[in-house]
Amino acid sequence: MPRFFAACTLGLEEVLVDELHGVEASKIRARRGGAEFEGDLATGYRACLWLRSATRVQEELVRGAVRDRDDLYALTESVDWSIFITPRNTLAVDGAVRDSFANDTRYPSLVVKDAICDQFVRFDGERPSVDRDQPDLPIKLVLQRDRAILYRDLSGAPLHKRGYREVQHKSPLNEALAAGLVLLSDWDGESTLADPMCGSGTFLIEAAFLAMDRAPGLGRAFAFERWQDTDQEAWQQVYDDAEERAARRQDLCPAIAGNDHHPGAITIATRAIQQAQLSDRIQLTQTDARAWEPPFEPDWILTNPPYGARLQTDDDSLYESWRSLGNFLHGRKDATAHVLCGDPALTRHLGLRAARKHPVHNGPIECRWLRYEIGGGED
Ligand SMILES: C[S@@+](CC[C@H](N)C(=O)[O-])C[C@H]1O[C@@H](n2cnc3c(N)ncnc32)[C@H](O)[C@@H]1O
Repeated sequence: MPRFFAACTLGLEEVLVDELHGVEASKIRARRGGAEFEGDLATGYRACLWLRSATRVQEELVRGAVRDRDDLYALTESVDWSIFITPRNTLAVDGAVRDSFANDTRYPSLVVKDAICDQFVRFDGERPSVDRDQPDLPIKLVLQRDRAILYRDLSGAPLHKRGYREVQHKSPLNEALAAGLVLLSDWDGESTLADPMCGSGTFLIEAAFLAMDRAPGLGRAFAFERWQDTDQEAWQQVYDDAEERAARRQDLCPAIAGNDHHPGAITIATRAIQQAQLSDRIQLTQTDARAWEPPFEPDWILTNPPYGARLQTDDDSLYESWRSLGNFLHGRKDATAHVLCGDPALTRHLGLRAARKHPVHNGPIECRWLRYEIGGGED
């Protein structure tokens, strides 16, 4: 039974484990920054297509003791690489190395690449070439002390690249993180939802996909589609099922609305929403959050106000943004709000007491996903 590792942002591991139950994975075990699981190849395809909070899905090919270069070369050679690709395909090796015989990732990655290419030359007289950007076979080497694991990466481009975002907002939320936070908030998929500082609209789009039972990977390509041993029939079945599910629930999206005071953000959000074919589901407005009158009274509010590190905003305007959000939240009658915050000094400007604080990383920044019960638990 193939063994897999799905990677996610630190703090989303429990969400990922829940999601893995939904793709019929077995022997699921949470790990730091991801989860291990088992399943047949179709489980791997389903994981790529359906996991909202994961950034990659990798299948373990071999593991073993590796004390030096020769051990690593022999371990790599023990895999029959012609099962996966031909010499006409491309590959790339990416390494994560710690406390091993090698000081950096480059040398052991090169050893793996050489061992694979030498195997092809021996049997075919030709070898695959390296393509660092879009390899047919992305390989991951994890080398820790004297243990090595080689994976093949089913995803190719990271899974958060859904395909709806052409233009980048200054500090967009990674789509997999946004989806994971929606799941972590326990939104029921039916209550009305709003983001008063929506930027490029990631929460809005990911929430709509969730409500409509739309697989986040529909419409994008995966590396495994180019492999020799891919069970194309099983993949087609997985894909058809996902299309059927999306068609069944396409009209079941609750009212969703977003707002941002920045015209550029609204332009980018509008474009992404069009690309995601959600223009008739999500309403956008451009004004200050404090003045925003959503087109309906939102039950659920998810938002990610600026917190400095990336936007480089000066302190006064940061405080002003948080006060503005506080005003918007105080104006609600009965709602549950979740706010992503990367700086605890800012939250007091909301004038609310958090009912729950969940640590989660946004890139290098350790953040809190704060839950506020409005009309109930406020100061
Ligand atoms: C960190 S970004 C949000 C990113 C967003 N989650 C995304 O996925 O692209 C913060 C956003 O808050 C907006 N913002 C800051 N102060 C605001 C205010 N007072 N009213 C409305 N929007 C505001 C900024 O324009 C910016 O787009």
